[in-house]
Amino acid sequence: MCKCEARTHQFLLELPKCEHHLHIEGSLSPSLLFRLAKTNNIALPSTEKDESFASPEALEARYERFVSLNDFLDYYFIAMSVLITSSDFESLAYEYFTRAHKDGVHHAEIFFDPQAHTSRGVAYSTVVGGLVAGQERAERDYGLTSKLILCFLRNLPVESADSTYKEAHALGHFSNGTVAGIGLDSSEVGFPPELFREVYESAAAAGIRRTAHAGEEGDHTYVSRALDICKTERIDHGIRLVDDEALLKRVANDKTLVTLCPLSNVRLRCVTKVAELPVRKFLDEGVRFSINSDDPAYFGGYILDNYCAVQESFNLSLKDWKFIAEGSIEGSWCNEGRKKVLLEKVEAWALAWKEMS
Ligand code: ADE
Ligand code: ZN
Repeated sequence: MCKCEARTHQFLLELPKCEHHLHIEGSLSPSLLFRLAKTNNIALPSTEKDESFASPEALEARYERFVSLNDFLDYYFIAMSVLITSSDFESLAYEYFTRAHKDGVHHAEIFFDPQAHTSRGVAYSTVVGGLVAGQERAERDYGLTSKLILCFLRNLPVESADSTYKEAHALGHFSNGTVAGIGLDSSEVGFPPELFREVYESAAAAGIRRTAHAGEEGDHTYVSRALDICKTERIDHGIRLVDDEALLKRVANDKTLVTLCPLSNVRLRCVTKVAELPVRKFLDEGVRFSINSDDPAYFGGYILDNYCAVQESFNLSLKDWKFIAEGSIEGSWCNEGRKKVLLEKVEAWALAWKEMS
């Protein structure tokens, strides 16, 4: 739990936030996982095979001992097998939005992994139908706006990404705004961005937004290849950018948004502690970045916990936080009108907390 002093915690809680790096399947908590497994009659791995599946508490404890991205992904893909109906996806999304709203999120752009569902017989339209229903409820109940980002699993054959992309196209999901953009996730090392060049080129030509996980476990060349070959507009994680000074300056100049996930990077051992992340370096170099939770049910915290962890390690000023908040809004994929409203909220917050400067 967060160790922030009460006033600092309130200051960060009230800061109007955008979240850009949240895998909706990664918000499936062990308790919901066990409940849905029962309701949907899904067998979890036997405890002879893996004793972590003995109870939600045992699973929570296992999540504290991930040794790598792939170690985490093994659990992530097993867990999501309990999601079957549209209403499961709707509840998952609505519960995430409810939590995000409590943490001061006003706009969220969330990833989903259609191939992980279609490959086990759950239709693409079931997944998206449920998520959209959750988005609509959250906007109605909390005024929280959101977008969907369709992610391709980079460890699966490129043909599978192509057919998923075509299915979303055929349903008009890109042209009607149901899905705002594409992303690339799952095991990074050995699956470089250029494998997906064609699908990214097609998306760019059709004016579809593009992002990709790069420089999480992979080195800085994964970032440059995502930008140069796949023409991504955003970089998810991107912590290895610090290993190439020219690339870092280019990202700063181009105002490319980097979506940092501090608690995730510690849990997956990309760094040993939050203080090792390039937060100060990004601020000093003018890199636009947001702070995000990635897979909050697995990594020990939602977005506010990530903000608090950054504050504990870097002791940022009001000016620094305002820069982060404004960059998060400007790097979002919402329209100019919505950006203006969000920027005004940040101005009002800065005025209310001016004694923190
Ligand atoms: N899928 C869910 N979380 C992920 C992460 N941190 N990196 C890559 N793929 C993911
Ligand atoms: Zn991620």
